[in-house]
Amino acid sequence: MIKKVCCIGAGYVGGPTMSVFADKCKDISFNVVDVNPDRIAAWNSKDLSKLPIFEPGLDEIVKRRRGKNLTFSTEVHKCISEADMIFISVNTPTKTSGIGAGQASDLKWVESCARQISEYAKGHTIVVEKSTLPVRTGEVIKAILESSQSSLNSKNKNTFDILSNPEFLAEGTAINDLENPDRVLIGGSNENAINALHDLYKKWVNEDKIIHTNLWSSELAKLTANAFLAQRVSSINSISALCEVTGADVREVSRAIGKDSRIGSKFLNVGPGFGGSCFKKDILNLVYLANHFGLPQVADFWESVVHLNSWNQNRLTNIILEKLFGTLTEKKIGILGFSFKANTNDTRESPAVQICKNLLNEGAYLKIHDPKVSKEQIDLDLGTPPIEDLKKNEVLVKKYKYKKWENSLLENDFFENLDAVIVLTEWEIYSKIEWEKVSKKMRSPGWVFDSRLIVDEERVKSSGLSFWRVGVGTVRRN
Ligand code: NAD
Ligand code: UGA
Repeated sequence: MIKKVCCIGAGYVGGPTMSVFADKCKDISFNVVDVNPDRIAAWNSKDLSKLPIFEPGLDEIVKRRRGKNLTFSTEVHKCISEADMIFISVNTPTKTSGIGAGQASDLKWVESCARQISEYAKGHTIVVEKSTLPVRTGEVIKAILESSQSSLNSKNKNTFDILSNPEFLAEGTAINDLENPDRVLIGGSNENAINALHDLYKKWVNEDKIIHTNLWSSELAKLTANAFLAQRVSSINSISALCEVTGADVREVSRAIGKDSRIGSKFLNVGPGFGGSCFKKDILNLVYLANHFGLPQVADFWESVVHLNSWNQNRLTNIILEKLFGTLTEKKIGILGFSFKANTNDTRESPAVQICKNLLNEGAYLKIHDPKVSKEQIDLDLGTPPIEDLKKNEVLVKKYKYKKWENSLLENDFFENLDAVIVLTEWEIYSKIEWEKVSKKMRSPGWVFDSRLIVDEERVKSSGLSFWRVGVGTVRRN
């Protein structure tokens, strides 16, 4: 019987996942640990708007369970030693140096977890890979755990089972995804260990959705799921460029192909390109694995999905440059949305980062709005901190390169003297902008670029602003 669960890593996955577990399994304690004391302090903050992660519905669950059967602490060793089951939910970014740099996953955080578990775990412990990992990482974890026991006599030996239980939540909908998953995947070889984890999930997940596989299939299925999803985004983005030049409308194309039940209607929204911490890293990991196992054609196929995505991000910059008479020097551009998608404060691999850098390189001044991303995060992502203390807008634009608009609400003042506005994230408020009003604030001829197809077309057109939308051709159809 599982009584105490420890989760190593209080990030986007560890925090929400354990919160939902705690909510659904009230007789079990869930202890989330992290080496980052600031993150843990934020998880423990009384003011629930200060949780380190913004996810709709998360604050209410934390409020219900924190201090009862859900804790957040930096007591990594203590929690490991008390746990019957340990989730490894740490970061697995792409390696930046050494063999496999730029493609392979950096497993140093996972290895460090395995070493700490080998040192502090007591009795029998089920170790669950929650992080997304290259195929056969389970072998590495097993080797570390077992080698630590080889010098002990059989009475003092601790024992371990290893499971893979990848997470499929998407940011912004994490709580719903966790509460109503399409499936739960448990990979492993030991029936008892698989059943122990199965029994936790079955408290709220229908058992026909809980799939058992071997360890390697589970690890590979997670990478494959992300690769397939990212490939769909690149596919529709590639078609959107074709729509623009042929006079087709990508929304009509999406609707037409989505009605084919073999294709399905989800994940066919065009945009500035996929972002987020995982799609690119997981595909590149797949590319690395394919090359490693002598399958360069497979590697090339998947790598092209990432290439298309980079091309798509740069394509938008080129279009803006062309429409604004070939120069952006000292032009004032408003950026609407900095997170990689709506309903999250996460900016990792956000297309906005690359697109803003491109525009700054061209000499533009940027005014950036996002309802959830902090100014500090934008500073980190763009590199050069803006010059502050400027009151009047005219003075302001001469001195700053970019500035975060501090109001979480988008007010008409934001548009003062802008030459162009670019919608990069599909936050709902951007679909409700009263363009008739804001156009009067902008410099003429003002442009609106909609990379998400959420802007109210009629309102922009009646405001007299020039309008460019992704995936909608301007060639007249007869
Ligand atoms: P994250 O960077 O938000 O969080 C990871 C946390 O682990 C950090 O707070 C870090 O301080 C902590 N950590 C690292 N090493 C540690 C150690 N040895 N001891 C204690 N704490 C340690 O990462 P994330 O977004 O939660 O992703 C975690 C994993 O889940 C990754 O493998 C990712 O690919 C996968 N994943 C992420 C998502 C997502 O939406 N973000 C979804 C599914 C799967
Ligand atoms: C994705 C997967 O959807 C999750 O199943 C997975 O668990 C997670 O990665 C992970 O492993 O990290 P996430 O990155 O949070 O989740 O968000 P998605 O909704 O998948 O969006 C990813 C990117 O694709 C975003 O930039 C989004 O704007 C873009 N996208 C998505 C589109 O441009 N069009 C679409 O139709 C869908």
